[in-house]
Amino acid sequence: MYLCTLFANTYMIIPESIDHNKLPEHIAIIMDGNGRWAKERGEDRVYGHYEGVRSVRAIVDACGELGIGYLTLYAFSAENWNRPKAEVDALMELLVNTIRKEVEELKKNNVRLHVIGDFESLPEICQQELNEAMEMTAANTGLNLILALSYSSRDEIAMAVRKIAEKVKSGALRIEDITDETIKQHLYTAAFPDPELMIRTSGEYRISNYLLYQLAYSELYFTNVHWPDFRKENLYEALLNYQQRERRFGKTSEQIQSVNPTHAQGNEE
Ligand code: FPP
Repeated sequence: MYLCTLFANTYMIIPESIDHNKLPEHIAIIMDGNGRWAKERGEDRVYGHYEGVRSVRAIVDACGELGIGYLTLYAFSAENWNRPKAEVDALMELLVNTIRKEVEELKKNNVRLHVIGDFESLPEICQQELNEAMEMTAANTGLNLILALSYSSRDEIAMAVRKIAEKVKSGALRIEDITDETIKQHLYTAAFPDPELMIRTSGEYRISNYLLYQLAYSELYFTNVHWPDFRKENLYEALLNYQQRERRFGKTSEQIQSVNPTHAQGNEE
């Protein structure tokens, strides 16, 4: 069953079965399978990355339409620097061109761009383009689109530990006052809520050094679909699956159901 809704002068089709009161506030995605998708078509891996941008556009659109607050995309890991130079260069060029081309659309659609990761390790031109786009979209209040670039979760945690240690050393922070919230506040993602849903495409069942701290209580969703084929319908499928899950946070099913019986597993409102 599908519901047609008028949105920004275009019709979108969102499955009626998606419960708009039970959407995650933050979705994180590992966009995997670009290379395999291209190889299956006898093309160079880079072709897969180019086609992957279409999926990025579709998913950013869908998240905006659904009113999702935060979308984090793993666009380039710190480990990806070890790929062949031609692929790394192509990815950086694609990033610059995509941001340049899409920034007006992001602005128009009320999307605010953020970057997490080792920003300084990116080529100067990427930094410039991203800084400009972040400034241009800074006043937007809709979807927060967070690109993880040159990102390593272990490096991020090490950075947080160094910052906390500096504060302890200078006397600004007492060791006994360090809590999990202190760590959260020193991560790149300090300003964002933790993702409730993490999606990985392309049939790999790994986290790959992605948001290790932030994913502590996330629901994980894996699909065999390669990223260049992942479109709005695939996101809706992931959301429907997410909405079937019972998020217990260490409690029992009975405890969860007694607090919120209408949101219990299998209980449609
Ligand atoms: C993983 O697939 C994908 C990447 C390392 C890059 C993702 C980049 C894009 C989707 C395009 C640029 C994005 C933006 C936001 C402009 P893979 O190459 O590891 O695929 P494989 O596992 O099949 O080899």
